[in-house]
Amino acid sequence: MFRALVVFALLVAVHAGRSPNADILEELLGDLNGRFSDNVEEDARLDVPDLVTKYGYNLEEHTVVTPDGYILGMHRIPHGRDNNNFPGDKPVIFLMHGLLGSSADYVLMGPGSGLAYILAEEGFDVWMGNARGNYYSRKHLRLRPDALLNTDFWDFSWDEIGNIDLPSMIDHVLAYTGRSKLHYIGFSQGTTSFFVMTSLRPEYNEKIISMHALAPVAYMAHNKNLLFNALAPFSKSLTSLVALIGIGEFLPNRLIYTWAGQALCRDEAVLQPVCSSILFLIAGWNENQHNATMLPVIFGHTPAGASVRQLAHYGQGIADKHFRRYDFGRTQNRRRYGSRTPPSYDLGKITTPVFLHYSDNDPLAHVNDVFRLFNELANPVGLFRVQQATFSHLDFLYGIDVKKLVYDRVINLIRTMDDLGV
Ligand SMILES: *[C@@H]1O[C@H](CO)[C@@H](O)[C@H](O)[C@H]1NC(C)=O
Repeated sequence: MFRALVVFALLVAVHAGRSPNADILEELLGDLNGRFSDNVEEDARLDVPDLVTKYGYNLEEHTVVTPDGYILGMHRIPHGRDNNNFPGDKPVIFLMHGLLGSSADYVLMGPGSGLAYILAEEGFDVWMGNARGNYYSRKHLRLRPDALLNTDFWDFSWDEIGNIDLPSMIDHVLAYTGRSKLHYIGFSQGTTSFFVMTSLRPEYNEKIISMHALAPVAYMAHNKNLLFNALAPFSKSLTSLVALIGIGEFLPNRLIYTWAGQALCRDEAVLQPVCSSILFLIAGWNENQHNATMLPVIFGHTPAGASVRQLAHYGQGIADKHFRRYDFGRTQNRRRYGSRTPPSYDLGKITTPVFLHYSDNDPLAHVNDVFRLFNELANPVGLFRVQQATFSHLDFLYGIDVKKLVYDRVINLIRTMDDLGV
């Protein structure tokens, strides 16, 4: 309905202005058709390959097997649809999602708003990773995610995602494209896992031209998130409890969420404000960046699954105010790390040029924690505050003005870094 009105208004405007110009009209309509979701219910149900193909983009699926047997699904949009719509030798950008997210986070808002589409139109070869345990990477050579009697599949936190998954996926991308380096953009846990990778395996700094951290999360001492803060005191006992009762997975993506998203959160629903406040409470979302019409699509793809240990690891960071490896308890720590307490991630080893993009109102990436991170990195290049006081965590993915406020700057920085030919 709303779209029809806009189309009508545009038609009137074009007609009123001057003699109808078919090209301009087509361009306006084309742009309008391409920018938003054209069917919210459908987009909630489609998985990434079908969703991206539906909007007229090429999508490649890639499979990467990690040294410890996880089978990861990657997605690639090799070129644009409207601009730069030819295959070719383009700079490679690797996108990594956040906690409970997946590659869907970068496309579900539709062309014109989803970061992956925007980058493809700007002339980049776009690759999206999926961490072990999420909807696209819920497979293993031997272990089964749904095994009833053991939770071995789920024995990982974002330490393993950074230490094992990211290097495996990045090596695949470089080998496949024949390049020696790429640009990296991460959101939230997608930044945490990057810092893990480049501190534990510093040789990977050589493979990254530039790193752009959206809502960077390393230190969590000032975290204001209700869920995490409620969990933090229990983070140690939480994992043992979970191991005991045999649930290793937290909020898997099941049809129920898609259904709930559609029934409860769609535009006409009385409960839509409830859906908004759930997202607001859990992940920080502010009123004026928030497009409620898209809630069913967001809930259709998120939460995409994670291990309980990923949450517990963040909980430990809040409780002990360090950015360090997973705390297994004294005995196991000694066996694994050779010390009673887990070692800190050495940020001084991260020599990649890093750009941090943060906002004042982000409860998960608090300003003080971001500054501390910036000061400890070996090669921090830029620290950018989003120029809107209310901008919050999820707005980096789903905000109405995120392109103008964040993505355009990131793209300029990537072009500059690429031209420097590092
Ligand atoms: C919100 O999303 C709907 C569906 O994709 C779209 O039609 C609408 O224009 C969007 N609103 C804004 C302000 O971006």
